Amino acid sequence: MNELILSIESSCDDSSIALTDIHSYKLIKHLKLSQEKEHQIYGGVVPELASRLHAVALPKLLEKIKPFFPHIKAVAVTTHPGLSVSLHEGVIMAKTIATFLNIPIIGVNHLKGHIYSLFIEKESSLPLLTLLVSGGHTQIIEVQNPNKMKILATTIDDSVGEAFDKVAKMLHLGYPGGPIIEKLARQGNENRFNFPVPLQKSPQIAFSLSGLKNAVRLQIEALGKLSLQDKKDIAASFQKAILAHLLQKSKKVFKTNSIKNFAIVGGVSANSYIKNGFKKLCKEFNKEFLEVDLAFTSDNAAMIGRYGIEMYKLKQFNSLDEIQVKPTKRLQSGDFLD
Ligand code: KG4
Ligand code: ZN
Repeated sequence: MNELILSIESSCDDSSIALTDIHSYKLIKHLKLSQEKEHQIYGGVVPELASRLHAVALPKLLEKIKPFFPHIKAVAVTTHPGLSVSLHEGVIMAKTIATFLNIPIIGVNHLKGHIYSLFIEKESSLPLLTLLVSGGHTQIIEVQNPNKMKILATTIDDSVGEAFDKVAKMLHLGYPGGPIIEKLARQGNENRFNFPVPLQKSPQIAFSLSGLKNAVRLQIEALGKLSLQDKKDIAASFQKAILAHLLQKSKKVFKTNSIKNFAIVGGVSANSYIKNGFKKLCKEFNKEFLEVDLAFTSDNAAMIGRYGIEMYKLKQFNSLDEIQVKPTKRLQSGDFLD
């Protein structure tokens, strides 16, 4: 048996543990317990409930990988950004394992993990331009190397995932909203409602979703009782405006940035309508479109382990004291991921 890295992810509502071969990148085990059902009745993630569910799920998952303990050479854990009470559960477990097995520990930024979800069981191909679209973030990031990831654009209010979830809630469709909206939109008329494309006239390279979300809310109120077809048409028209917004702002970056590789990462990158729009844009700009395997678009520990391997190879370890849940900072364009 080869040398393995153990990774733990608990930043939101997925408890996940993975074991990855440090040298071949092969994923030996990937375990995940999602809490979607438990949060569904609340229409979104309830932090205290998430934390309690992690406290039950993580030890159960760990039990399954105990036979591999002698082969584990390091432990990587998500420390930020995310729900602090949820992150805390993973961090405590990682510290306990690092102490018990006397192995190095690596704190991982969840967003860097999403970027490395592109390279699960693969060599990395950098530099890379990426659009990170998740439940908490919407950013364009220039990735030069594992330690140099610069934000080129960010949202000034909500994230794209959040907008999908909120519109789904307005339509009483359930949580998480993204996959449900995408499915409904396939049967909808995207030209029925002319929702405004955010910041369309602004030269700013930034994202904004709250105006679009409000326009959808007003439309729903104006319609009164909604038929299923109304919902489908709203979903399609909303998705169309989101894609137009993402494409318009990304195009501005593409015009001045010559990095060849481009990828969409984060939960929303599962959306094929958005992916197809970007595939076309990449063709137009002669860029290579890299895709995340659908199994790893949402939160998972495999991506944390994959980034952890980069840190392991660079011998960038943290002391046990350094490994703390970090408060979520609102990063601006020009900042680097920490
Ligand atoms: O990356 P992720 O799993 O968790 C965070 O780090 O936030 O992203 C979750 C988000 C949710 O808002 C969910 O609705 C959205 O990703 N999502 C989608 C799709 N699948 C998941 N949004 C649009 N279309 C999808 N197919
Ligand atoms: Zn995530």
